[in-house]
Amino acid sequence: MKKFATLILLLASIASATAQIRISTDKTDLILQVNPEGRLYQTYLGAKFQDEKEIGNLKWDEYAYEDGLDCKRGGEAYSTEGNEDYFEPALGIVHSDGNRSTYLYYKSHEQKSIPGGEETIITLQDKVYPVTVKLHYAAYAKENIIKTWTEISHSEKKPVTLTRYASAMLYLKRGSYFLTEYHGDWAMEARPEVECLQYGKKEIETKQGTRAAEFTYPLFKIGMDGAAQEDSGEVLLGTIGWNGNFRFTFEVDNHNVLRILPGINPFASDYKLAPGEVFRTPEFYFTLSAEGTGEGSRSFHDWARAYQLKMGGATRMTLLNNWENTYFDFDQQKLSGIMKEAKKLGVDMFLLDDGWFGNGDDARSGDSAGLGDWEHNAEKLPDGVPGLVRAAKDAGVKFGIWIEPEMVNPQSKLFRKHPDWAMTQPAREAYHFRNQLALDMANPKVQDYVFGVVDNLMKENPELAFFKWDCNSPITNKFSPYLGKDQSQMYIDHARGVYNVMERVSAKYPGLPMMLCSGGGGRCDYESLKHFTEFWLSDNTNPVERCFIQWSFSEFFPAKAMCAHVTSWNRDASVKFRVDVASMCKLGFDIGFQDLTESEIEYCRRAVASWNRLKPVILEGAQYRLVSPFESEHMAVQYVSQDLCSAVVFAYNLFPRFGEEPLRVKFKGLSPDKYYKVCEINLESGEDESDYDFDGQSFSGHYLMNVGLNILGAGHMSSNVLELNAL
Ligand code: DGJ
Repeated sequence: MKKFATLILLLASIASATAQIRISTDKTDLILQVNPEGRLYQTYLGAKFQDEKEIGNLKWDEYAYEDGLDCKRGGEAYSTEGNEDYFEPALGIVHSDGNRSTYLYYKSHEQKSIPGGEETIITLQDKVYPVTVKLHYAAYAKENIIKTWTEISHSEKKPVTLTRYASAMLYLKRGSYFLTEYHGDWAMEARPEVECLQYGKKEIETKQGTRAAEFTYPLFKIGMDGAAQEDSGEVLLGTIGWNGNFRFTFEVDNHNVLRILPGINPFASDYKLAPGEVFRTPEFYFTLSAEGTGEGSRSFHDWARAYQLKMGGATRMTLLNNWENTYFDFDQQKLSGIMKEAKKLGVDMFLLDDGWFGNGDDARSGDSAGLGDWEHNAEKLPDGVPGLVRAAKDAGVKFGIWIEPEMVNPQSKLFRKHPDWAMTQPAREAYHFRNQLALDMANPKVQDYVFGVVDNLMKENPELAFFKWDCNSPITNKFSPYLGKDQSQMYIDHARGVYNVMERVSAKYPGLPMMLCSGGGGRCDYESLKHFTEFWLSDNTNPVERCFIQWSFSEFFPAKAMCAHVTSWNRDASVKFRVDVASMCKLGFDIGFQDLTESEIEYCRRAVASWNRLKPVILEGAQYRLVSPFESEHMAVQYVSQDLCSAVVFAYNLFPRFGEEPLRVKFKGLSPDKYYKVCEINLESGEDESDYDFDGQSFSGHYLMNVGLNILGAGHMSSNVLELNAL
């Protein structure tokens, strides 16, 4: 009996020593395997296997090479500093005795159901140092998204120092790799740039500490064997859930294998990990599409709506914002007038922006004072926020409010009372970005205060319907008074402090819609979006620029998360063009009636009504990007309802050349067998007739997708919107 039990144990240990771990969605397989020495390797990342038995053909050393060494290297699932691999590691630990080497061995793994898929947790341990690493992979079957993160802990006698802590490590073995990164600046958000990755390292990183995405965005895609195409070819789209400093490392090794390491940027961030403490990395989200970027984007949209966005399944409100209209120059009476304009437009809500708080010398009459003092300005708003909520109610719209709770102006009561709550250097003159300082979010008392900004407003005004949470500065004066002598965790603790508050707010107010904003589109990460219903893409609302910006962000985010407002930027563009561009996202306005004619107001009113009717298609439907502004002087974007019975097509002409004859546009995603009536909507005036000769006609989905329609024109900054309904 004893012999038998020993045999079983032996068999079990042989099985586990070579265990193959399959992480699958409906379309993708990520396969890992334990080698005979007990180390864990990636053996495959690609299209899902049809015949499970064939996975057995994969060997643990699919990505490993001998290279003249006595051992093989390359392909380790979570490569560590000090091992036999000579490239960038996922994990770097300086142990408490100063040794810098870590080797991880497979210990166990489990797979459990989660909503929408399966989570795999693999436990790895070092044999020399008591270090444990847990790799987490949550695979969402239908949506074809894999979410990965890592937990690192140890039980050494003293703290260890983490110098590298990637969220995951992935390998691709293809002929060539084309990276698309997205960089920019204020009003220049998410400009894609493509390059072929050659031997060596390419890093995309930010060091701004907060509002991570000002100069570069936590988004990338890798086109395999050619630059990423919209509807064909293999593409990996990835993004990280981290507002703080992030880094994506892409390293092509000497065997032309691409290694991808997404994670927190270790810049100035050696992390002292105490025994027993668990270091959890941010989540990294990716999808592998065999049919170009378009399919990858639809995967992200479906997954975000179902599992990630705050109130992902709920609809969204249209709004009128006052920022571009009034800036800081308003009072209660003016706002009451704008609320009536909101009602006339037919939007759901009025959103009051910056400038409603601070008093006396600290009044927020410009951007140099008042931040931090979250009580209403008594001169501008004698009846306070409750008075505004009442006025909005009287006007028949909901009321939302702007805050920037993580920041402070030195010219404020808060700063005078708690100078040590702001990030400031003890012995240097402070430098400011937009006259403000970041609060020290590592400090739990500051976190309580920031939470209180939302909580107090909600307690006083339970009918507040919406918050816009802004963040207009990176961390300047990089010193946390709370952390004092040891600043090595400043960046990480700051970002964690911000998330901690966001989490507390969404836990207490789960039904409160909130817009994530950061001096334009400086924040757009999927960790924050667990707590926000939508985000602000850019202060650049010139509709021509917006075509490009919205196209880029739509590669990763669904229309319902992307706020687009009609403003007076680019008055040369017609109001129709401005409204039509904003209508492909979550529609809003930031314009005063003094800047609109009666007929323009009427156009906006009708466009809001048709947008409301089409909300289920635009917000919940599948998006197809038909014509790219990056490749032509036009843009066309289509949305198809989940039941394939309705669709909307937005067609935009930017600056076509004289005599240009655009190609017919082939629609996508329709049912080939259904017949659709095609009607142009949002015509400039109620009496206008469409210029399209096919207006009001019906076509089969097959025709529309294979022959297409001439929907693009020659006018500069002109647009058309088509509604399709199955007969
Ligand atoms: C930056 C935002 O992007 C704007 O929409 C506006 O809210 C200002 N901040 C207010 O200061």
